[in-house]
Amino acid sequence: MTEMINADAERQAPCAGLRIGDVAPDFSARTTAGDVRLSDYRGQWLILFSHPADFTPVCTTEFVALAQAASDFEQRDCALVALSVDSLFSHFAWLRLIRDRYDIEVRFPIVEDPTLVIGRAYGMVAPNDNDSATVRTTFFIDPTGVIRAMTCYPANVGRSTPEMLRTLDALQAVDDGPVLAPANWAPGEAMLAQPDASLDTVFSAKSQTDWFMKETKRGTRK
Ligand code: BEZ
Repeated sequence: MTEMINADAERQAPCAGLRIGDVAPDFSARTTAGDVRLSDYRGQWLILFSHPADFTPVCTTEFVALAQAASDFEQRDCALVALSVDSLFSHFAWLRLIRDRYDIEVRFPIVEDPTLVIGRAYGMVAPNDNDSATVRTTFFIDPTGVIRAMTCYPANVGRSTPEMLRTLDALQAVDDGPVLAPANWAPGEAMLAQPDASLDTVFSAKSQTDWFMKETKRGTRK
């Protein structure tokens, strides 16, 4: 069982500390969708992401975009959980404004993390940051609770929902492997085969690249 985050979690630079392959630290928290425990998401994919603050322009566009794409994430069996330092009531007021102004309901949970205990454990907060805002970190967590990818954007640049979906598609496709996702890969496109690491294969290959660079049709999952 993963250790719960405690108040002594070390202060970390944004996106530092946790690595790909680590088990995502477990936590329980109050959210806009009731109390949530991270480990309850085991068995499905999860994108846990932080935003700097409610009622800010870039964050508002991100939440509108993610809520509009909610069914795309559901189709991939992936839950979304957001987090910021703002209070639950701030989250509620912001979601009401988003609903009224943009005609979209944000139904995925937004965690309140006023003490920054979770944000610090995940490296979502700049060390000694006086305004306590989290940066735009995104953790892709697989059904076994392992962090498979992470991104870190500054407050003034919003994330791309299509790229989040593409990353998720690529992670799910390589799990159906053994295949690799090349640059700019999109579902339906060819993937790469795992290179065969034997000298006989190298010497018998038809060309200089054939032994390590081979397309395969597998991995078209979406
Ligand atoms: C924004 O979401 O627009 C934002 C948040 C924090 C600092 C700067 C911009």
